[in-house]
Amino acid sequence: SKGIQVAIDGPASAGKSTVAKKIANRFQYIYCDTGAMYRTVTLKAMQQGVALDDPEALAEMLKHTAITFKPGDPEQLVFLDGNDVTAAIRQEDVTNNVSTTAAQGTVRADLTNRQREIADAGGIVMDGRDIGTTVLPDAQVKIFLVASVEERAQRRFKDNAEKGIHTPIDVLRHEIEVRDHKDSTRAISPLTQAADAVKLDTTSLSIDDVVDKISAIIDQNT
Ligand code: C5P
Repeated sequence: SKGIQVAIDGPASAGKSTVAKKIANRFQYIYCDTGAMYRTVTLKAMQQGVALDDPEALAEMLKHTAITFKPGDPEQLVFLDGNDVTAAIRQEDVTNNVSTTAAQGTVRADLTNRQREIADAGGIVMDGRDIGTTVLPDAQVKIFLVASVEERAQRRFKDNAEKGIHTPIDVLRHEIEVRDHKDSTRAISPLTQAADAVKLDTTSLSIDDVVDKISAIIDQNT
């Protein structure tokens, strides 16, 4: 069989990409991190001095922008116009600006097209904010991954420590809340649980627990 579509949505730092990547490995599906695409567009606009709230200028920029992925461990590698931007798109200034870019309709239309093309290849695990609601509304499995803001701030704090970043936990909690608010209240494709999505609270679950639960749901649907 060609494999099914698995949509994993949820707020910032809920563990979506870690879990999505493991599921893709287990089922030999393609993995697409749509947040990385919004981050890459934001990085390029910042580098080129394109205003993040100018939909026309962003659309023009996107006409000659290539975003590609390559397998990598522990992280998938992300390339912008042929250059590896895997680390650059995780910088704090990108993280704290990405919601502005992601609110622009021209950007969403362009990236949604690219995401659907990637999904056309077959079995796919795609994570983001609007996959189950907008990008892949017919996905056979839709998961809405949530965790308490306290837990998510702590997870980010630990990830950061491994990279030598020491932003205080209060600041991280605030940044997560601000980003969730912006993503949930924008006009176009806001972050929201699809009516037919399964909600999974990962606050007190391990990554492997979450992967097992989602895998069981996929098994029921294939
Ligand atoms: O998943 P990640 O935290 O890397 O996403 C970064 C940002 O990209 C989100 O905060 C959101 O503004 C935007 N995004 C989006 N739609 C998606 C995926 C991400 O608007 N499907």
